[in-house]
Amino acid sequence: MTMKSFFLLVLGFGVLLAGAHANEQSELTRRAKIDALIAEMTLEEKAGQLTQFSDPGDITGPAPSGSRDKKKRKLIKSGVVGSVLNVVGVENVRVLQKIAVEESRLGIPMVFAYDVIHGQKTMFPIPLAEAASWDLDLIEHSARIASIEASAQGINWTFAPMIDVSREPRWGRVMEGAGEDPFLGAEIAVARVRGFQGEDLSAHDTIASTLKHFAGYGFVESGKEYNRADVGTITLHNIILPPFRAGLERANARTVMNSFNTLNGVPATGDRYLQRDLLKGEWGFDGVIVSDWGSGIEMIEHGFAEDERDAARLAILGGSDMDMESFIYAPKLPSLVRDGVINEALLDDAVRRVLNLKFDLGLFEDPYRYIDAVREETQLFTAEHRAAARKIAQDSVVLLKNEGSLLPLSGTESIALIGALADDKDTPLGNWRARAVRNSAISVREGFEAAGIDFDFERGARLEIGEATFGSEIAINVTDKSGFEEAVTAAKNADKVVIVLGEDALQSGEGRSRAEIGFPGVQQELLELVYDANPNTVLVVMSGRPLTLTWADENVPAIVQAWHLGHEAGHAITDVLTGAVNPSGKLPMTFPRSVGQVPIYYNFLNTGRPDPNQPVFWAHYTDEENAPLYPFGYGLSYTAFKYSNLRTRKRDDGVEVSVRVKNVGDRAGAEVVQLYVHDQVASISRPERELKGFQKLTLDAGESSTLTFMLTKKELGFYNARGDFVFEPGVFDVFVGGSSAAKLNKEIRVHFALD
Ligand code: GLC
Repeated sequence: MTMKSFFLLVLGFGVLLAGAHANEQSELTRRAKIDALIAEMTLEEKAGQLTQFSDPGDITGPAPSGSRDKKKRKLIKSGVVGSVLNVVGVENVRVLQKIAVEESRLGIPMVFAYDVIHGQKTMFPIPLAEAASWDLDLIEHSARIASIEASAQGINWTFAPMIDVSREPRWGRVMEGAGEDPFLGAEIAVARVRGFQGEDLSAHDTIASTLKHFAGYGFVESGKEYNRADVGTITLHNIILPPFRAGLERANARTVMNSFNTLNGVPATGDRYLQRDLLKGEWGFDGVIVSDWGSGIEMIEHGFAEDERDAARLAILGGSDMDMESFIYAPKLPSLVRDGVINEALLDDAVRRVLNLKFDLGLFEDPYRYIDAVREETQLFTAEHRAAARKIAQDSVVLLKNEGSLLPLSGTESIALIGALADDKDTPLGNWRARAVRNSAISVREGFEAAGIDFDFERGARLEIGEATFGSEIAINVTDKSGFEEAVTAAKNADKVVIVLGEDALQSGEGRSRAEIGFPGVQQELLELVYDANPNTVLVVMSGRPLTLTWADENVPAIVQAWHLGHEAGHAITDVLTGAVNPSGKLPMTFPRSVGQVPIYYNFLNTGRPDPNQPVFWAHYTDEENAPLYPFGYGLSYTAFKYSNLRTRKRDDGVEVSVRVKNVGDRAGAEVVQLYVHDQVASISRPERELKGFQKLTLDAGESSTLTFMLTKKELGFYNARGDFVFEPGVFDVFVGGSSAAKLNKEIRVHFALD
C-alpha cells in the first residue's frame, strides 16, 4: 500500500469517525435538550404536551361542546397543548403556532396533524383501490404527493396509513385499508410510510406517518362499526400485526394510533400488552402512540374505566402517549401524579416521545418550517399531481368480466351512459377527502365527453336524497324510479350500454357499516331493466367495498370494478373502457356471492370435512356455494397471460422459485404474478394458501419473461400461539399465477434448517 493510499485510508476513517461522532453528538445534544426541557416542565405542561385537540372548524369525530370546547380553546391559546388536528392552511397554523412558541412559558412548538388518507388537495383513489394496483412504486408516489401537498398547507403529521387487515366488506372502513392480506398489506404499509416520511423527516415537504389502528379494528364482530374484536394469538400475529411490524422495522414509522375496539375484552387504548409489552417492549418502538378520537374516555363506556380520572390512569399506564380529544390527560394526569397514583416517570417517557417527534420534524429548529404561503400557492392540485392521480387510478381498475370481448369500446358504437354515479363529480373523491373541493372530480360523463365518445346520458334514478356530509347519515332513494323509462329507452336505442352503479362515497368509511352489501336503493332493478332492454351492457361498479355482484355476474357480459378513484376517476375509467389503458388491477379483497358467506377470504384454514363425499356432513351451506364470486388477487386483462416452467431450486438460505410468463394475446398488458405457499403439515393448522411474493410486469404481445422468487424462513415460517416466529421444515405446496386461485403448482420439501 502506498503512503498516499494509506493516508487516504486514514483520512477516510477520520471522516467516518467524525461523522459518527457528529451524529452521536447531535443525539447527545437532542437528548440533553429534551432532558432539560422535561426538567423545567410543570406537571400541567407535561400533561399539555400529551394533549391533542381538534380545531372545532373541521371535526372528524364527536366533538366536545360547551364548556369543554371553551377550555380546549383556552388551552390551545395558552400553548400548553402538544398537538392540534384539523387545522389546515398556513395562516391558520401560523396563528396557533405563534401562540405556542411566542406566548407560552416554554415556547414548545405544536405538531399539526390531519387525516391525509388518500390525498390532501388532489384526491387519489381510496387506499383499497390503490391496493388493487399492486404497484408499490405508484402507491409510494401517491403518498409522496399527498405529503408535499399536506406540508404545503402547514401539516406535519398525517393519520395514515390505515393498515387494518380486514375480511369484512360490511365494515365501512375497508375502503381505507389495503384489504385482507397481511403480506400485501405489509408491503403497502412500507410504501406509504416511505412516501409520507421521505428520506428526511425534518424536510419541509415530508410529514410523520401513523400506523393505525392498533390493533384488530378490522376484525370488528359482524362488521359493525366500533364493535368488539375477538381474535386468537395465531390470527393476531400472523394476520393483523405483520403490516405494523413492517411499517416500523422497514420504514421507521414515527407514530402509531391505537383503536376504538376492545381486543379480546381490553380496549386497545388501555391495553398494556399491546402497547407496552409488545409495541414499545418487544418491538422497541420509540415513537408516539396517539389515541383515537375520544378512545380514552370511551373506556368508561366499555366498562373498563370507572370515570375520567380512571380512564386517564388506565390510558397512560396502558402506554397511550397522546390523548386525542378525550380531554382527560390535561385535567387528570397532574393530580394522579400528585396523589401518587401514577409515577411521574410515565409522563416523562411519553413527553420525551412527543418532543422527540418534534425534533424529528425539525420544529425545534424552525417552528415555522411548514408555513410557507408560496408553497401553499403553488404546490396544490397541480397538473403533475393530477396526472399521477390519473395513472394510479387507471391501474386500480379491476376487470371482473369481459364476455365476448364487449370491451374495449370500439369508439364507433353509440353508447347509452346510464346511472346517477356516471354524472357524479363528488363520489369519486372518496370518503376521506381532506381539502378537496366538493364536486370537483372528473365524472365518467366528462371523461366520455373528453374522449369524444358518442353517447346519450340518462340518470335512471337518484342514488341519494339530499346532500351527504362527513358527519351526517346519508339518505338513499329507495322509491323514486322516475327516470327508469328514459333509461330503458336510451338503452334500446344504443349499440351498447355503460351503466355506472354502486355506492356514494359517504356510504363507506367510518361509521358506514352495511348489513347488506348489494347495490343500494333502486339500482339493482334499474340494472335488470336496462340489461333486459339491451344485453350489450357494461357494468361499472363504484364502491368503497366489495359488493355482492352475483346477479350481474350471471347476466351482464362485462363488469369493471372502479372503486372511488379520486379526482381523475372519469378519465381513468374512460381510458380503460376505450382500451387506451389495458386494465391490470387485481382484487385486494375477496368478493362474496352473498353477505351470508362473510367473512370469506382466500387464506382460510381447511376443515376436517372439506369434501362433499358425503351428502350432509361436510363443510358447506345448504343454500350457497363455498367459493367466492371473485377471489383475492383476481383481475382480467384485455390480453391473456400463460404460466409455465414452474421450477424450484434449493439455495443456501431457502428455495428459489422461477416461472415463465408469456403474453399470449394481441396487445401489451401488465400482469401481477403472485406466489402462494401452503405448509402441508405443521404444529398448527396452516392456511390453504398464503401470498408470499408478487411482481408486476408489463409484457408486449407475444413477449415472455422468467421471474424468480425466494422462499426463505421468513416466507415459510409463522408465529405460533405464543407469538414466537418459528420455521418448521416439511413439505410445502407452491402456487404461481394471476390470482389466489392459481393452478400451476409444485411440491417442495424443505428439510434443511434455514438459519
Ligand atoms: C377518527 C378515526 C381516525 C382518525 C381520527 C382523527 O375517528 O378513527 O382514524 O385519524 O378520528 O380524525
